[in-house]
Amino acid sequence: MALTINSTYKLTNGVEIPTVGFGTWQAADGTEAKNAVLDALKAGYRHIDTAAIYGNEKAVGEAIAEFGIAREDIFVTTKLWNDIHTYEAAKVALATSLEKLGLDYVDLYLIHWPNPISIRHNWEERNQEVWRYMEEALEAGLVRSIGISNFHERHIDSLLKTAKVVPHVNQIHLSPSEMQPEVVAASDKHGILVQAYSPLGTGSILQVPELVAIADKYGKTPAQVAIRWSLQKGYNPLPKSVTTSRIIGNIDVFDFELTDEDIKIIESLGGTGNVASNPDEQGF
Ligand code: A2P
Repeated sequence: MALTINSTYKLTNGVEIPTVGFGTWQAADGTEAKNAVLDALKAGYRHIDTAAIYGNEKAVGEAIAEFGIAREDIFVTTKLWNDIHTYEAAKVALATSLEKLGLDYVDLYLIHWPNPISIRHNWEERNQEVWRYMEEALEAGLVRSIGISNFHERHIDSLLKTAKVVPHVNQIHLSPSEMQPEVVAASDKHGILVQAYSPLGTGSILQVPELVAIADKYGKTPAQVAIRWSLQKGYNPLPKSVTTSRIIGNIDVFDFELTDEDIKIIESLGGTGNVASNPDEQGF
């Protein structure tokens, strides 16, 4: 069936997630993030992605409240930051995020990074303990689905040794410039939906001539082509912008379809833009 602005993916627990989400990384707390989320909701996004570390959960929550949408009609994600390594701390962190967002539950809660520097000696055990809390939060209805972010195959396999719930999503840096095939395959193997943050390579791929040529062919922008590519691959793109016209444009991707040939060209671009950082070598 053709994709529309109302299309959703179904997670393995049956929860539906809108196919294009709105990214808020680097949207500053206060007016910037609030206005961006308000613009996004007006443009038709029904899926907002934030994180404790973005520092903008309060602004995101205010925008949702001000827009006045029924809770069940919006999908909200937040993430557990790298300084939380125990069951008890995770419990406090989720409660804090919910309070800032002004919500009783989030639709998706993620472990933000698999291997923070402070637990590099025992990340496996720490992730397993935190995951146990996330499973309980799921059971308690504080979250509707749970997942991971920036996890590579070895991190997924380690978590699955003790997990009762297989993660519902893996959110990774994913664009035509950084396709992370091994991580996508490792996620697919377990039915884990791949969410694409930085689907525009944080803006770095938008001048690539091949992408511009494809965009011109359809009367679309390179950003729209990159987002459409992500959708046609079955990913869940989360484009970020604080610019009204771009926010509107980035979800206007349902009136054209890339051909197999377009996709071949897009996938041959290689590392033309920003690439993902190695989670085992991150300095935080
Ligand atoms: P801004 O927020 O100032 O509008 P990504 O989603 O890959 O992380 O990319 C986000 C970056 O790309 C931001 O710098 C954002 O700028 C910029 N951006 C988002 N949408 C567009 C667009 N349609 N055209 C050009 N740049 C864009």
